[in-house]
Amino acid sequence: MTFEQWTRLVLDRVETALEHYLPAASELPATLHDAMRYAVLGGGKRVRPLLCHAAGELTGATPEALDAASCALEMIHVYSLVHDDMPCMDDDDLRRGKPTVHVKYDEPTALLVGDALQSQAFITLTSDVPGLRDAASRQAALVRELALASGSIGMAGGQAIDLASVGRALSRDELETMHRLKTGALLRAAVRMGAVAGETPSADTLRALDAYAAAVGLAFQVVDDILDVTADSATLGKTAGKDAKDGKPTYVSIIGLDASRALAQQLRSDAHAALEPFGARAQRLAELADLVVNRVS
Ligand code: IPE
Ligand code: IPE
Ligand code: MG
Ligand code: MG
Ligand code: MG
Repeated sequence: MTFEQWTRLVLDRVETALEHYLPAASELPATLHDAMRYAVLGGGKRVRPLLCHAAGELTGATPEALDAASCALEMIHVYSLVHDDMPCMDDDDLRRGKPTVHVKYDEPTALLVGDALQSQAFITLTSDVPGLRDAASRQAALVRELALASGSIGMAGGQAIDLASVGRALSRDELETMHRLKTGALLRAAVRMGAVAGETPSADTLRALDAYAAAVGLAFQVVDDILDVTADSATLGKTAGKDAKDGKPTYVSIIGLDASRALAQQLRSDAHAALEPFGARAQRLAELADLVVNRVS
């Protein structure tokens, strides 16, 4: 199977699973459910689900367990995007090529969409799924990974640092910490959750995957910062040039465009090096590292 075929297969599975794990739009409260589905379905690159599936293939996780973990990751991710776009944060009106949730609906709805998606992620992870239903400890480990990655020492903490840093000159270490938390933590969780969804990974396996995920997670936000400067809004599906306009500390603003590009490539080779112990078994993860770094949107 080519990488493109594998990607298509996973994306189709995940879209079907998201349909299944999200409340129906007809279910009350209908507007909230409609807005949750508007935010999640039919858009986005689904990088976290792809990482989760690729890692899970290394530990023999069932596809159903990986679908549930992937949906939970994507729900948390979309919640973070919906809140990130609100006027009290980045104040954006375009996301995934469509009006943001607070523009299409209203601010209270956007707030609640984020809240409800966060709960829905944990409902999804603890649902009755082959490969999870028989293993309470596996389910608990997944819940813990996701909660840690999204809370105050993960995504939410990174967002807090981001907002507190507007217009301030961050050191390179502070910038790296912010990026590792706000974006890296959830990408790292995607890899770890994929692995944990299967046979309990050995300490060595988890260490190697962690090194891979740390590199890919940081690379992802470095590239996000680069694309904000180099791509246009139509390609990105979100407003380009927003970071400079808002005085956000980014890799581009702190080390410049060329050094940011070089760093992304360095992180790509760090990710590949971390996968060496797995040989050909880690082909999908290696291809995903390339995708993250070489993407144009
Ligand atoms: C954008 O994430 C926000 C960051 C964490 C950098 P993605 O680039 O993964 O957004 P989608 O899911 O493809 O829309
Ligand atoms: C957002 O970072 C990270 C999140 C946790 C959502 P950005 O603010 O750079 O994401 P975009 O560029 O709006 O997608
Ligand atoms: Mg932001
Ligand atoms: Mg933003
Ligand atoms: Mg950005």
